[in-house]
Amino acid sequence: MRRLENKIAVVTGAGRGIGRSIAIRFAQEGAGVVVADLDAPSAARTTAEIEASGGRARAHAVDVGDQAQVEELMASTVRDGARIDVLVNVAGVGLTKLILNTTLAQWEHVLRVNLTGCFLCSQAAARVMTAQGCGKIINIASLSGQRGGTGRAAYGASKAGVTMLTKVMAVEMAPYGITVNEIAPGPVNTEMTAVTHDEATRNAYHRLIPMGRYAERDEIAAAAVFLASSEADFVNGHTLNVDGGFAAAGLIFDLKE
Ligand SMILES: NC(=O)c1ccc[n+]([C@@H]2O[C@H](COP(=O)([O-])OP(=O)(O)OC[C@H]3O[C@@H](n4cnc5c(N)ncnc54)[C@H](O)[C@@H]3O)[C@@H](O)[C@H]2O)c1
Repeated sequence: MRRLENKIAVVTGAGRGIGRSIAIRFAQEGAGVVVADLDAPSAARTTAEIEASGGRARAHAVDVGDQAQVEELMASTVRDGARIDVLVNVAGVGLTKLILNTTLAQWEHVLRVNLTGCFLCSQAAARVMTAQGCGKIINIASLSGQRGGTGRAAYGASKAGVTMLTKVMAVEMAPYGITVNEIAPGPVNTEMTAVTHDEATRNAYHRLIPMGRYAERDEIAAAAVFLASSEADFVNGHTLNVDGGFAAAGLIFDLKE
């Protein structure tokens, strides 16, 4: 039995990276997926890939920071499939910049996409889900929202904001049968980190992560499938770290006895 049979899921940032892997896994588990991304060609590519392997998908170009576009995303999904069972907020942008060098424009862009985008999509989907009396919202946060890493002022603050939004929404949405959870990955091998993480960054991460490597995208997608499935019906307001033990670790060294 597939775990998301007949569900309708909206996945933002699904043109590439973690969002693409989540969209593909959801389709394999039986969901009809709305592949939403700022980059229309990449959304079309993910959609074509899903359809080529027998899945159901529709591409939708959207800027998650634009309220009118987000409302149209949810409205068109309801027109198409009459419901939204799952929303996964994956769309995000990275920034590694010392706070002294972070411009207001950079700060506002990161907050707009990562936090305001999550708020707008969650609010619009929740309005549909409250009418349905059920739904699941999954946010992709980050270990950078839990720990103070160099250069992570704007990015970390945006993801810490996502974590609190997850908790407050979990409380407010529970009476409507809606759960709100988040996945906090440590570093993941994606198109984004291929460009932004140099060897020094990778080595620094490897030393801090007990499992000594980055996550693969499918490992994040597997957690998303769990949170979207009925197996997670009583999981609410939870942060599921998928980080190889990064958050749990303190001092790591070779002890000989
Ligand atoms: N890669 C990592 O190591 C890592 C770790 C922790 C958390 N995350 C988070 O996971 C999510 C995905 O990361 P990724 O590495 O796959 O990134 P990515 O850059 O590979 O993919 C992000 C996608 O989001 C889309 N996007 C950007 N701005 C958008 C907007 N305004 N509206 C709609 N779509 C938009 C992009 O077009 C792209 O397809 C992000 O929220 C990121 O912060 C990533």
